[in-house]
Amino acid sequence: MVNSIKTNEFKYESEKLGMMYFRVAAVLLGAQLLMGLIAAIQFLYPNFLFEIFDFSVARMVHINALVVWMLYAMIGSVYLLLPSETGIETIGVGIGKLLFWILTAAVTVVVLVYIFVQIGAGTEASIWFINEGREYLEAPRWADIGIVVVVLGFLFNVYATAIKGERTGVMTVMMANLLALAGLYLAGMFFTDNITVDQYWWWWVIHLWVEATWEVYVATIAAWALMQIIGARRQIVEMWLWIEVAMLFGSGILGLGHHYFWIGTPEYWWEIGALFSALEPVPLVAMFVHVLYDWGKESGSQGGKATLANSPAFAWITANAFGNFLGAGVWGFFHTLPQVNIYTHGTQFTSSHGHLAFWGAYATILIGMFYMGIQRAHGVKKMQMTFSTKMAFALLNIGMLGMTVALLISGYGQVLIERAQMGATWEGFFVSQNATWFLQGMGWRLVMGAVMLVGFIYLVLDILTIGKNAKLKEVAKA
Ligand code: HEM
Ligand code: HEM
Ligand SMILES: [Fe+2]
Repeated sequence: MVNSIKTNEFKYESEKLGMMYFRVAAVLLGAQLLMGLIAAIQFLYPNFLFEIFDFSVARMVHINALVVWMLYAMIGSVYLLLPSETGIETIGVGIGKLLFWILTAAVTVVVLVYIFVQIGAGTEASIWFINEGREYLEAPRWADIGIVVVVLGFLFNVYATAIKGERTGVMTVMMANLLALAGLYLAGMFFTDNITVDQYWWWWVIHLWVEATWEVYVATIAAWALMQIIGARRQIVEMWLWIEVAMLFGSGILGLGHHYFWIGTPEYWWEIGALFSALEPVPLVAMFVHVLYDWGKESGSQGGKATLANSPAFAWITANAFGNFLGAGVWGFFHTLPQVNIYTHGTQFTSSHGHLAFWGAYATILIGMFYMGIQRAHGVKKMQMTFSTKMAFALLNIGMLGMTVALLISGYGQVLIERAQMGATWEGFFVSQNATWFLQGMGWRLVMGAVMLVGFIYLVLDILTIGKNAKLKEVAKA
């Protein structure tokens, strides 16, 4: 009987391709955590791996792995939901698989080069073959161009499928948004000698991704997942989706100004950045309220018992609603006014926000999508939380919250000592970095990072077993 259990119950090849992307995403998340831990240890013990593995490389791989695993999980989620939204197999799914292997080979080569060529002169050749030197988007230019080719293939698949199949509101928003998301990558591909101009364009990618196009993307997959998991009505989720699209683009685009305060751009950005970025939490609050509203309404309409087709995914999507609101909305608002930002800019305060926002707004829901994929892979109607699901959920989220608070305390130390007391001098920087409160915060960040790693091990254990076990139970019942 056990032998008759298939682990591949996909109805569509597109869903299988989605899972291929998810697997690499999960591996890269693990790599991200390991690199973060190495960098966190080096903060406290600078001799750790001295002249073997540089802090700058650990940090770089940490945040590039972050961006890359999230893009993998995003592409995977699109391939997963395409057949369900359009009603047909993805057009060009064979090309999609080929591009997956090309991308994965390229990512492997890029990471190996980072690790083996840690230091050296920055030249035209190093931009082409080693590292472009732009935080978060360090891929060398050859890989940049390769990424553009792969993404064009992906966009072709999505567009061709959506045009031929049924066109839902979710798909219409997805199509327009993916084009914007991919197009913005181009702003980070050319190099100028003027650092202000360079930073000006670089922020287009990072800010207009995480505060506009990625947020809209998350709203589309949340809409889809809520329909699948709790049977939310399409009309309701799509209405909210359109409202959010309008609001997110409205505040997110000019909110970009909060990165133009101190990089040498004209001073009018102070007012523009202050006003529009302060409005950015508004759509996040609306989204938060809407999820809770949908949830209450759906459970109400079914006599207090909502059908939960996939409780692990639902838990992570709920964490996303809270996390997006807290990490991006609240933690972002803390330091977004230039009057505050002049003290907090580039301290651990920023890092506190960066961690909670990426985690709350993106990591959570993408992990939820892993579970959506697993459910389809095994063809189970109902997937319930296991002990490992709960341990992973608790340890990862508690670890991240703890880390965020620790970083906030270190950041306060820097603001008070380095900025307020010592007038942002070079000496002030070092004095504040050696202050007790700063160091204790760094210590707790490391402890909480270790908690997250244990949570990650539970997550891997869970995603490797939960689908098969759920299937066995369903077969036993039938
Ligand atoms: C999910 C959405 C968001 C993510 C993932 C995110 C992430 C980040 C990250 C990683 C940084 C550091 C960038 C660097 O390396 O210099 C940053 C900076 C910043 N973020 Fe966000 N953010 C989000 C939303 C927001 C929102 C909604 C606001 C405002 C309400 C905001 C305000 C800021 C400000 C002011 C800075 C600059 C900090 C500084 O001057 O050092 N962010 N964000
Ligand atoms: C084991 C857990 C983790 C540890 C120990 C860790 C540690 C670190 C360290 C040491 C840095 C460099 C900070 C600096 O240069 O001052 C960093 C940066 C960063 N990490 Fe993590 N990290 C962890 C997990 C994560 C996760 C899960 C995310 C996102 C989902 C994340 C996102 C970031 C971002 C966006 C930055 C750049 C922040 C900035 O420039 O302000 N990290 N992390
Ligand atoms: Fe921003």
